Amino acid sequence: MNTQTLPLARRADQLVGSIIDSSTSLLAQQKHDIVRFAMGAPANEAVPTDVFREIAGSIFDSESFTYGASEGEPRLLNQLVDYLATTAEPTPAERITITAGGMQGLDLACKIFVDPGDLVAIESPTYTNGSATALSYGAELLEVPMDEDGMVVEALPDLVNEAGRTPKAIYVIPNFQNPSGTTLSVARRKRLLELAHEWNSVIIDDDPYGLLRFAGEDVGGFHSISPEDPLLFSVRTFSKILAPGLRVGWVNTDPSLRPLVISAKQAMDTCTNVPNQHIVAEFIRRGGLDEHLTGLRTEYLKRKQAMQASLDRHLGDRIRSTDPEGGFFLWVTLQGEDAQISAQSLFETGLAEGVAFIPGPALSPSGKFDDALRLCFASSSPERIEEGVQRLANAMDKELAAVQGAR
Ligand SMILES: Cc1ncc(COP(=O)(O)O)c(C=O)c1O
Repeated sequence: MNTQTLPLARRADQLVGSIIDSSTSLLAQQKHDIVRFAMGAPANEAVPTDVFREIAGSIFDSESFTYGASEGEPRLLNQLVDYLATTAEPTPAERITITAGGMQGLDLACKIFVDPGDLVAIESPTYTNGSATALSYGAELLEVPMDEDGMVVEALPDLVNEAGRTPKAIYVIPNFQNPSGTTLSVARRKRLLELAHEWNSVIIDDDPYGLLRFAGEDVGGFHSISPEDPLLFSVRTFSKILAPGLRVGWVNTDPSLRPLVISAKQAMDTCTNVPNQHIVAEFIRRGGLDEHLTGLRTEYLKRKQAMQASLDRHLGDRIRSTDPEGGFFLWVTLQGEDAQISAQSLFETGLAEGVAFIPGPALSPSGKFDDALRLCFASSSPERIEEGVQRLANAMDKELAAVQGAR
C-alpha cells in the first residue's frame, strides 16, 4: 500500500530519520569484513559486560520487572545524585528525570518547547538525530557555522536578524561535539547564555561525552557558568560511558519544569526500562564508575592518537583533521585535489574496500560537507584503525582516479 493514500499527519513530511542509525542496519547486512568508524558507539570491549551479567544475576527481584516511576527508579536517582555530587555538575534529585537515553531527552526538550514553525538554531555540522527530533516537531532550522572553538556564537545575532525571528531553542553539543570533535569555548558559552536570555530561548545542552575528556583542561559546563539557569535543558546519557543498548539517560532541568517533563514522558513510554535502571544503579553503587571512566579515557586517547598516526601515515596532506580533547570523533576534511571527491560516493567505495564512516552531508540537515567524513576512533583497536585507514586511503585513490578520469 502506498502511504500517500493514508491520512498521515502533516508532521510525517518532517520525519526525516537518521542516516547515522541506518548505517547500523546497512553494516549488519554486509557479509565481508568492515572496519567500523561509522557508529558513535563505545568499543565492545569497553562495555563492562561481565559485571553487568553478574549484577543481572544477583539484584533482580519481583519489583524489577513491573512498571516503574516515570521520573526514574528511586534506586538509580539516589545513586546518580550521589555520583554527580562528585563531578563538575552536581545535580539535586528535583532537577533529574531518568530517560530512555539521550535521544528521549532531546525529544522531551523539543516536545515541550518547539511548536510547528519555530526556529531552532543548530550547529553546522551537527548530530542530525538531534536536528531530526526538532524537525519532527515542525521546527525550522537555523544552521550556525562552527570553527575550532565550536559554534560561532558571534554569527548568531546576524543570522537571527536575517531569519526575522528569534530562536525558540538553541541546540548545542558543547564538549567534543558530534561530529566535529570541537569544544565550545567558555567565552562563547557565556555569550550564548546572554543571547538565550535576551531572546528567551531554551539552550538544549546535549553533552554525552563531557565525562570522556582525555586531554586539555576541563572547562566545566553551562551550569558552572550559570547555576540553576531555567533556560538550560541539559540532556545526559549513560550510552557513551556505559553502554548504548541499555537506553538509560537523564535530563537536568529547572525543578519547576520537572512535572511537565514527567507528563511529556508519560505520554511517550510511561517509564524507562526498569531492569536496566537497576543494572546502572548497582554498577554505580559498587563504586566502579570512576575507575571505569579512567580506563575509558586512557584507552580512547590511545585510539585517537592511533587514528591520527594512521591518517598521517596513509593520507598525510591529503586530509586535515580536528584534534579533539575527548569524546569519540575526528572530523576529517579532504584537501587539495582530493576535495573533488564526494564523501557520499567515497562511502560506497569505502564500504566495498571494507571501511565504514559517516559522510559529511549526513551530519548536515541541508546536506553540506560533501568534502568531509566523521570517523569514530572509539570503537576499534589501534590495529584495526590502522587497517581501516589503509582501506580508506585505497578507497580515496579509487575515487580520485574516477573523478580525474571523468574529466
Ligand atoms: C550528541 C549526541 N546526542 C545524543 C546522542 C544519543 O544518545 P543515546 O544513544 O543515549 O540516545 C548521541 C549518540 O550518538 C550523541 O552523539
